Amino acid sequence: MRFVILTDTHFVPRGRKLYGLDPAQRLAVAVEKINASHNDISCVIVSGDLAHWGERAAYASLSGVLAGLKSPTILMMGNHDRREPFRLEFAGADRDPHGFVQAVHTFDAATIVTLDTLNEETPDQAGILCQRRLEFLADALASAPTDRPLLLFQHHPPFDSGLRYMDTIKLANGEAEWDVIASTRKPDYLFMGHLHRPIAGTWRGIPFHIQRALTHQVAFDFETAGYIPGTLEAPDYALVDVDKGNIVIHQRSFLYDGPAFSLHDPKAASSRSTRELAEVGL
Ligand SMILES: [Fe+2]
Repeated sequence: MRFVILTDTHFVPRGRKLYGLDPAQRLAVAVEKINASHNDISCVIVSGDLAHWGERAAYASLSGVLAGLKSPTILMMGNHDRREPFRLEFAGADRDPHGFVQAVHTFDAATIVTLDTLNEETPDQAGILCQRRLEFLADALASAPTDRPLLLFQHHPPFDSGLRYMDTIKLANGEAEWDVIASTRKPDYLFMGHLHRPIAGTWRGIPFHIQRALTHQVAFDFETAGYIPGTLEAPDYALVDVDKGNIVIHQRSFLYDGPAFSLHDPKAASSRSTRELAEVGL
């Protein structure tokens, strides 16, 4: 099984820009690359902050770009999202019995569980798993097939990353999430967005992957606490392979349009500039 992860698309209404970037234009490049490179993927998961200000026009623009994907999508909520305008443009998106945008997707090779960590009731950039969502998680973990990996997706990390401002807006009740996990089943992998940086590690023994954003990024800065330091580092999408219980995650810098060459080519190796290298080509 293969699937793609994109996150933090931060769409704005068509024609507008955000921090100098056009999220729609950028996602269109990703869609083109994904369609051209992968004809065997099960889904594309977009793990929250689909829209920057959460208005319907932004979701309409996102819907238009995602329509170009050949693969099905699984869309999730982030702190910038709003469920009602989202639903107006994505009526067929995941919805649990309480209206949260979360679901269990069972594939032959893995089970994908998505959680909705948006705190819309008491608007807050931090995430929350209310009692209903904790119960959903408990049911999902307890009932998923045990013969294949369980991959848990949520927008907000339940732990500190060292990015000081971002740590103030993590999942507010990560301990409650941990209590559910500890009493049911540990996911085999935890995937998140929100931090706008590529980060990997383990949380209480669970390996995790945090995907870089599609749009603006958060700086490699462990000092600034009073605001979120931003950058425009290049984005990635992740290609995840799950095969016989093994999980391999590739990152693709999909905006790259520089030289492609053979590392075995002596002419390429002795090129004196990237321009000369580009002329060597493949
Ligand atoms: Fe974000």
